[in-house]
Amino acid sequence: MSINPFSLEGKTVLATGASSGIGRETAIRASQMGATVVAVGQNPDRLGETFSALEGTDRAHRQVVCDQTNSEDFERLISELPQLDGVVLCAGRVVTSPFPFCTREKYDSVFEINFFSTVELLRLLYKKKKIASGGSVVLISAISGIARFPIGNAIYGASKAALTSTMKFCAKEFAKKKIRVNAITPGMVRTPMIKLDALTEEQLQKDCAQCPLERYGEPTDIANGVIYLLSDAAVWVTGTTLVIDGGLSI
Ligand SMILES: NC(=O)c1ccc[n+]([C@@H]2O[C@H](COP(=O)([O-])OP(=O)(O)OC[C@H]3O[C@@H](n4cnc5c(N)ncnc54)[C@H](OP(=O)(O)O)[C@@H]3O)[C@@H](O)[C@H]2O)c1
Repeated sequence: MSINPFSLEGKTVLATGASSGIGRETAIRASQMGATVVAVGQNPDRLGETFSALEGTDRAHRQVVCDQTNSEDFERLISELPQLDGVVLCAGRVVTSPFPFCTREKYDSVFEINFFSTVELLRLLYKKKKIASGGSVVLISAISGIARFPIGNAIYGASKAALTSTMKFCAKEFAKKKIRVNAITPGMVRTPMIKLDALTEEQLQKDCAQCPLERYGEPTDIANGVIYLLSDAAVWVTGTTLVIDGGLSI
């Protein structure tokens, strides 16, 4: 009998941001690897598309529509969640702005989803013992603000740097419950977030050329890293940041 250390058979995995891009691909990949998935997203139609693409219809997959910045939605989400073996916190947004226009309002709007509601979700899941012993948490951060500092990305980068820092504190504290906490820092990934339509073909090629592997990432490139961190293959891995960026931050 062959053993697949990356299998998620028998695990229940929560994925936020599951209505689009990296979160959607993560939810689908997790179901392909045997997990029962709780897919969370804001837009009901897009979340429904993800839900329909989940494999393993005999499993009790669920979808929860939730604006994580809305307190009523947030409380309902927490109350509806089952015991979890995997938690992937992927919901996020980006705002770009030259520094003189980085107002408190813009910081608040980005931090609200990228940092505050994400960390609050993690806090409540841990406090309410919704993450099983042996469980794994994966925070989707970014290389921006940590290893790359492109002009215009100060707000987004700061929100992700705060998230990556929090990951380390949680990894140390949750270890006594045998819960692992890690982050992934993607480079540029082809999702609606990066608004590829706004780039000319020439701009796109120039941008890709900056990356040693000469292309943008695909959502699957990140989802595969998430699967590794959720699986028993990563059972001795905690407090780490997995950089998946095609070499952009070298
Ligand atoms: N794409 C990249 O190049 C890149 C690079 C580094 C890091 N990341 C990170 O990867 C994560 C996923 O991004 P993506 O590229 O997959 O972008 P995306 O396709 O735009 O997906 C963003 C997801 O976040 C959800 N979301 C946003 N605000 C929310 C809110 N208030 N409540 C609940 N859900 C909310 C969206 O839900 P709805 O669609 O339902 O509104 C969507 O599912 C983000 O944290 C992002 O910062 C992306």
